[in-house]
Amino acid sequence: MQVVSPDCIDTEFPSNPYSLKITHSAMQKILVLYYSRHGSVCSLAKEVGYGIETIEDCEAVFRTVPPVSSVCEATEPAVPEQGDIYASAQDLVNCSGLVLGSPTRFGTIASPLKYFFDQAASEWLAGTLVDKPAGVFTSSSSMHGGQESTLLSMMLPLIHHGMIMVGIPYPNTPIGGTGTGGTPYGASHVGGPDSINPIDNDEKTAARVLGRRVANCARLIAKQAL
Ligand SMILES: Cc1cc2nc3c(=O)[nH]c(=O)nc-3n(C[C@H](O)[C@H](O)[C@H](O)COP(=O)(O)O)c2cc1C
Repeated sequence: MQVVSPDCIDTEFPSNPYSLKITHSAMQKILVLYYSRHGSVCSLAKEVGYGIETIEDCEAVFRTVPPVSSVCEATEPAVPEQGDIYASAQDLVNCSGLVLGSPTRFGTIASPLKYFFDQAASEWLAGTLVDKPAGVFTSSSSMHGGQESTLLSMMLPLIHHGMIMVGIPYPNTPIGGTGTGGTPYGASHVGGPDSINPIDNDEKTAARVLGRRVANCARLIAKQAL
């Protein structure tokens, strides 16, 4: 089966992608699971979601994780006061694909996401994520501050879970020419020293292409399984 069809990588997006998903019953839920302290990864997550929802029968499901604390008494409310709700193991069961987003933290995945996967041993044993497509995205403050090592480190638990990794190809995408974020390993954003840079067009397009590709793969795999 050719999982990646040429139309996964086009960069044309309809003006209202959300209009595509209203009447379909067999929706593929693509989990966009991210951690964001200052909003950059969250902004990128929304662009990934936009890309996902340009694919027929696919719906983006946004989830985040609470911060971890060295103070073991510290607790977060079960439902965050604002933003997307916290992910649960059931979200891993329900999804047909996963796009994982983390800030770059010393060149690797942020602890809250690592902690979430450290608690997913039951799902690993059950093969919950096996043969589901996955992609990754990150945001860093500096251009050469470790985006690619972070993206690669984020793939490791997903590969252990049996997921099929999806990157961003060079043809028909900004990957070969971007002066900011966007890598073949996944989408990315360079936030600048004070995290004030807006997500630029190349970063936005790369994030949407990643969402489209993961969603398209999930849809093709679901069709194959019928
Ligand atoms: C503990 C810590 C470690 C960080 N490590 C890096 C790093 O290695 N390279 C880098 O460029 N930025 C690093 N940053 C900056 C964040 O990656 C950057 O601000 C990112 O855009 C934050 O995403 P957010 O706005 O979604 O929280 C670090 C920030 C923190 C708090």
